[in-house]
Amino acid sequence: MRILLTGRNGQVGWELLKALAPLGELTALGRAELDLRDAVRLREAVRASNPDVIVNAAAYTAVDKAESAREAAFAVNAGAPGVLAEEAKRSGALLVHYSTDYVFDGAKPAPYVEEDEPNPINAYGASKLAGERAIAGSGCRYLILRTSWVYGPRGANFYLTMLRLARERAELRVVDDQVGAPTSSLAIARATAQLLRPGAHGLYHLSAAGKTSWCGFARAILSGAGLATPVLAIRTEDYPAPAKRPRNSRLDCSRLHADFGVALAPWEEGLAEVTLAAP
Ligand SMILES: NC(=O)c1ccc[n+]([C@@H]2O[C@H](COP(=O)([O-])OP(=O)(O)OC[C@H]3O[C@@H](n4cnc5c(N)ncnc54)[C@H](OP(=O)(O)O)[C@@H]3O)[C@@H](O)[C@H]2O)c1
Repeated sequence: MRILLTGRNGQVGWELLKALAPLGELTALGRAELDLRDAVRLREAVRASNPDVIVNAAAYTAVDKAESAREAAFAVNAGAPGVLAEEAKRSGALLVHYSTDYVFDGAKPAPYVEEDEPNPINAYGASKLAGERAIAGSGCRYLILRTSWVYGPRGANFYLTMLRLARERAELRVVDDQVGAPTSSLAIARATAQLLRPGAHGLYHLSAAGKTSWCGFARAILSGAGLATPVLAIRTEDYPAPAKRPRNSRLDCSRLHADFGVALAPWEEGLAEVTLAAP
């Protein structure tokens, strides 16, 4: 199997390098080799590697910055996946793509299922939804995995930010009224490799089992690292940010389990694994 991976230096992309390598011949590109906003070069790169599977782990993920850089977010999160989908359709390749709980508004009082109507409340979510729709509308064979609250041992993420701040500050104040499932980049990459074997396709939710708030997650991170810095629970209103966030980010992942037997471990287990892997 020939695999083309984009976003090789991102949180998920980095773990995919390891998880996908045993599956076949892997070509992995980062931003330095290929800017996804360059549609001509993107098409050339796909055609040159002639993949059976394209795994798109590149994305514009700066949620707050996206509010004032809508065009850039849409170019990477909707334009580029659209081009990859056209190329996948042309060649018959499978396109694996990641999306987000932020396509939902968070008003549902229960975990979101795949059939729930998206209604993004920020520019990042809108750009990711546009990417999903470009792929689904292209007629290519695709696997879209919506995940949530991604963190891991490297990259820009909440986990590493909390560890840094806990060492710098006397106390932390963290939002306690947004609920979701922190999902490790390692677990996402492993599940992706598992799903490539049977050639799964369609739209699926993929996040760690269980739920917590950002505050609960922060306390667990610090506790796992042996840090005693107090973490105070605050409300979303007390932490103004350019982008609105959904209150409920929970994804129901039972369809993935029913169809392919793939389910991620509880978020606490993912955190324990990342804590061991972190530098
Ligand atoms: N992070 C989360 O909390 C979260 C939550 C739900 C879903 N997701 C989705 O999960 C997937 C993986 O996210 P992640 O957390 O691994 O993201 P990440 O760590 O931000 O990695 C994204 C990668 O994409 C690259 N990239 C951005 N713009 C590019 C461009 N124009 N050309 C080429 N490469 C470009 C980045 O390169 P640079 O480093 O050079 O910018 C980075 O290496 C994405 O689809 C994301 O939307 C993420």
